[in-house]
Amino acid sequence: MSIQYEIPFEEQLKACQQHINDKLVATFSSLPFFDSPLGTAMQHGAVLGGKRLRPFLVYSVGEMLGLTKKSVDAAALALECIHAYSLIHDDLPAMDNDDLRRGQPTCHIKFGESQAILAGDALQSLAFEILATQDMPDVAPLDRIAMIAELASASGFAGMCGGQSLDLEAEGKQIDLASLEQIHRHKTGALIRAAARLGAYAAGQRGRDVLSLLDQYTHAIGLAFQVQDDILDVIGNTEVIGKRQGNDQQLGKSTYPALLGLEQAQKKAYDLYEEAISALTELEKKSYNTVTLKKLASFVIERNS
Ligand code: IPE
Ligand code: IPE
Ligand code: MG
Ligand code: MG
Ligand code: MG
Repeated sequence: MSIQYEIPFEEQLKACQQHINDKLVATFSSLPFFDSPLGTAMQHGAVLGGKRLRPFLVYSVGEMLGLTKKSVDAAALALECIHAYSLIHDDLPAMDNDDLRRGQPTCHIKFGESQAILAGDALQSLAFEILATQDMPDVAPLDRIAMIAELASASGFAGMCGGQSLDLEAEGKQIDLASLEQIHRHKTGALIRAAARLGAYAAGQRGRDVLSLLDQYTHAIGLAFQVQDDILDVIGNTEVIGKRQGNDQQLGKSTYPALLGLEQAQKKAYDLYEEAISALTELEKKSYNTVTLKKLASFVIERNS
């Protein structure tokens, strides 16, 4: 896969999906006993479908900063393994109790709760193994360590897990907008920010101006992504989103449409899109090509799945 600025976004994303699928299958097939129940549950959770938005972001940032895709393959794969683990656990009866994901029965429906819990655990470990061991041409060892630390913090207490905990605590309660924003920035925004950061760290940009502009960009699209996810739970079509529409309302989840109404939630997503575009304008002033990141920002708020 090579991200080329002149091809339509949908095709770029499709090429990324194919590339990540091939890489995941190759990584899984190299594991011993991979046709075991646990291995099959992991493949089910990680390989079948998915937009691959976080890997796409890793590659887009890598390319903008002059890296080959091979330099960031490990980061892209690791992010997707963490994401797949988060979805498997998110769907468990103890959490959102969902039976449909990516148009398929969820992992615990197909393989049972114990295997689904373990599949999530093993995908999490695999992410860090990939990041620590897979070839990363042109990436300095200290930058690799920083990438591992960033992914750990974005997926753990201070990131995705922390947000998931707040999300569950808020079920059935009336919370204010600031608390909802905090939930969304942690449960979803943190991994999206990490995707761009890992691409930037691989390019040796830790602590540089470009990193803070990328953070501004992901601060906006990370929240916008979850606002749109909330919106799709209200207006999406189960067949298209591949998960059951209306589940948030049924669970009494705190969401943007629940707090603000649909129209204001849509306006919020658009305001965040504009915020993302202003960060990109600053990057352009520094002569970076932000065409793909711009298309990605529109996709985040316009997507129907
Ligand atoms: C769903 O993520 C969970 C959220 C963080 C909103 P995605 O919408 O990226 O799910 P897939 O990977 O495309 O299935
Ligand atoms: C999940 O948010 C965010 C994760 C960290 C997985 P949701 O619970 O809204 O995601 P979906 O709608 O089930 O994909
Ligand atoms: Mg959830
Ligand atoms: Mg859920
Ligand atoms: Mg949702």
